[in-house]
Amino acid sequence: MPNQRPKATPSDITSAASASFETCRDSRLRQLMQALVHHLHEFATDVSLTEVEWREMIGVLTATGHITDDKRQEFILWSDTLGLSMLVDALAHDLPPGATESTVLGPFYVPGSPQREYGQSMVSEAGAGVPAWVHGRVLDITGRPIAGAEVDVWQNGADMLYAVQRPEAPEDHLRGRYLTRSDGSYAFGAVRPVPYAIPDDGPVGRMLAATGRHPWRPAHIHMIVRADGFRTVTTHIFDATSEYLFSDTVFAVKPSLLRTFEERRADDPLRPPGVETEWVSLQNDVVLAPGPDGGDVVDPGRTA
Ligand code: BEZ
Ligand code: FE
Repeated sequence: MPNQRPKATPSDITSAASASFETCRDSRLRQLMQALVHHLHEFATDVSLTEVEWREMIGVLTATGHITDDKRQEFILWSDTLGLSMLVDALAHDLPPGATESTVLGPFYVPGSPQREYGQSMVSEAGAGVPAWVHGRVLDITGRPIAGAEVDVWQNGADMLYAVQRPEAPEDHLRGRYLTRSDGSYAFGAVRPVPYAIPDDGPVGRMLAATGRHPWRPAHIHMIVRADGFRTVTTHIFDATSEYLFSDTVFAVKPSLLRTFEERRADDPLRPPGVETEWVSLQNDVVLAPGPDGGDVVDPGRTA
C-alpha cells in the first residue's frame, strides 16, 4: 500500500494554527493571537464559509485599505458599525455610579481646537443652524465643582456636516475648548445639532445597504472633558427628541446622555449675545470619576 499522509481535519488545522503561537514570548500577544485564530476558525466553521465568500471578504478588506488615508478611516467605521467600538468602550470604562458615561470618539475630532472664553460662541459662519446656548457644570462624584476643567467640544451644523468635512469651512467653526470657572461652570454658544449619515460611500456603506441598515446617527454634541486628578471622559450630549435615538448606526446612545433642548423665543430676555431669532438652551452637567487620566485621545485618522 502506498504511504498515505494523514488528512488534516478542520480541527487539526485550527490546532496547528493555534499551536504556532505557543512559543511567542509576549504572553498577551500569544493570548490575543490564539484567541483570534480560535474565533476566526469557529466563525468559518459555524457558517461553512465558502471559497467565494472568503474571496469576497478579502476584497472588502482590500477596498477598506484602499479608501483609508489620513483623512478617512474606514477600519474605524467597521468597528463602529459592528458595535466593536462601543464594546471596547464598555470594557474599558468601569465608572463609579453617577459619573458621566463615555461613548464613541468618532472620526471628526480634531485636536487643538481654539481656547475660548466662558460663553463665547463657536459658530463662525452665518446660517449654521438654530442658535443654542449650552451650559452646565463639571463636578466630582460628590457634587463638588471642578474648577479649571477643560471642556473640548465639536459638533455638526444644520447642513449635517462637521467643519472638517468641508475644506471651505473656517477651520475653527463649531469647535472649541472651554475652561470651567471656580464654581465648575462652563457655557458656550453653539447651534442645535442635527442627525446625520456616517460616510457611506465606501465598503461600510455597501455593507449597510446590502444588509438593509441605515447609516444615520441621532443629533448630538461631542465633548471630551479633562481635569487634573480625574479620568478623562469622551462623551456626547444627545438631543432627547432626535430621530434615530433607537437605531444609532454605531450603537453609541446611552440613556444617561439624553438631554432636552429647551425652545426659546426670539424676545426671551435671556437670549445669548447676538441672537435675534428663536433659539434653544441646553443644560448639561458633567461628572468626572476620580483617578489618573487613562491617557488622552489618540487620533488614529479621520473619516471625512
Ligand atoms: C460621530 O459621531 O462623529 C461618528 C461616530 C462614529 C462614526 C461616524 C461618526
Ligand atoms: Fe458626531
